[in-house]
Formats: sequence, C-alpha cells, structure tokens
Amino acid sequence: MALLPILEYPDARLKRIAAPVTEFTPALRKLVDDMAETMYEAPGIGLAATQVDVHKRVIVIDITKDKSDLKVFVNPEIVEADGEIVGEEGCLSVPEYYDNVRRAAHIKVRAQNAEGTPFELEATELLAVCIQHEMDHLKGVVFVDHLSQLKQMRVKTKMVKRHREQARR
Ligand code: NI
Repeated sequence: MALLPILEYPDARLKRIAAPVTEFTPALRKLVDDMAETMYEAPGIGLAATQVDVHKRVIVIDITKDKSDLKVFVNPEIVEADGEIVGEEGCLSVPEYYDNVRRAAHIKVRAQNAEGTPFELEATELLAVCIQHEMDHLKGVVFVDHLSQLKQMRVKTKMVKRHREQARR
C-alpha cells in the first residue's frame, strides 16, 4: 500500500468529473487500498478518488473512531433522498476549515464494491452527510462550493496563503 498525495482547494483538478469504473481489476483494488490508507493516515472519515487526482467514481468512507468499518463505493448513485440536515463539514482538500452545509438527512445509495458486486445501503446522519460530500467530489464539487461567494473568497485567500507558506518551508 502507499500514501497518495491529496489535492488541495482551489486546485483546478478538484473540478474534474470522474468517469464510471468499467473494469474491476487488481489496479482498482490497489487504488481502493491506497485511498483507505491515505484516508486513515490523514486522518479523515472519507476520501474520493478525485482528491488523489484519479478521476474515477470511487470513494472510501469510515466514520468509526477505531477504523473498523471501511466502506467502499464504486460508481455510487443516490436512488432516494429525503429530509434535511445541516452539519459542520470539513475536507482533507480544505485543511483547517469547517462550515455548515445542508444535505439530505436520509439517502439510499446503490453502488458496487471493489470486486464489482452491486449493493444498496441506506444512510442517515453523519454517514449520509459523508456519502453526499464524497459523491460531490466525483462531480467536481468541493463543500465550500455550497457556501456564499464571500466565504468562498475567504477560503481561497486562506488556502493560497497556506500554500505560499508551505512553499517557503
Ligand atoms: Ni472532501
């Protein structure tokens, strides 16, 4: 396994639209393993392939504290969504920034696992929010894109400053 570099907002590559996975190869399983390792190491509770500059419809999620429930979604589609929940979100691509985003409170997702086997999953609360956040990445959307223009400008300024300071080190 290997740790993958995570793209940081406002990197233009985060806007790319991910393509469906059509072949369930050992390379896909390695991508999933590397993404899980990268997510756990960060540490984070979700990671989309887009964030590691791989533009395929793959996300990994584990909302447990003890890393005991890795969920892999290949080609995820939301087939049902209802209700409304507003919660504070963060993102490994937007370090040290958190803000409230409105999401569906309950969703049903259809996806495949790393071997290509289809499954359905119903989710509420943090898991539902996390799935919607990660699926946004596959559409080229970062959670700050849901915020006001003013907030987006502030986050961009903060991130550009962060990257400038990192470059200086
Ligand atoms: Ni994110």
